[in-house]
Amino acid sequence: MSVKTTNDLLLDELRDLYHAEKQLLKALPKMAKAAKNAKLQDAFTHHREETQGQVDRLEQVFDLLGKAARAKRCEAMAGLIEEGEEMMEEITTPEVLDAALITAAQKVEHYEIASYGSARELADSLGLADVAKLLDETLAEEKAADSKLNALAIQSINKAALTVAA
Ligand SMILES: [Fe+2]
Ligand SMILES: [Fe+2]
Repeated sequence: MSVKTTNDLLLDELRDLYHAEKQLLKALPKMAKAAKNAKLQDAFTHHREETQGQVDRLEQVFDLLGKAARAKRCEAMAGLIEEGEEMMEEITTPEVLDAALITAAQKVEHYEIASYGSARELADSLGLADVAKLLDETLAEEKAADSKLNALAIQSINKAALTVAA
């Protein structure tokens, strides 16, 4: 799709996000399975459910715009997920892997926060209040997911990782 107008740009960003979220639907269960800490497992499982809702919300947005819900390969998310998968293969200490999974997941959340924040502002500038509102709902969920991961790292997971002897 060639991007000429701001409307095109918004649609392009939304299609990128749609692909990013769909990749995450597959990655989050693997991350939950790889995690040792029960709270971290729950955080990933809960965010997997939220992510399904975010996919549905993007479909509502495409509907509002009168456009087909089509995904455009998101190279950035593919790269972030690949790095996470490498960690799962390479890190053999469960406590350290938990800390690594949080860093990988927070990178994902920050990418999503940036993308949804930008898309919401584009929608807002185009006067698409209903679209901006839906994007804002997902943005709030991504920020909450990031805060939860941060709290888990500080409260327990990074401390547990420190107990691993060299
Ligand atoms: Fe998401
Ligand atoms: Fe997310």
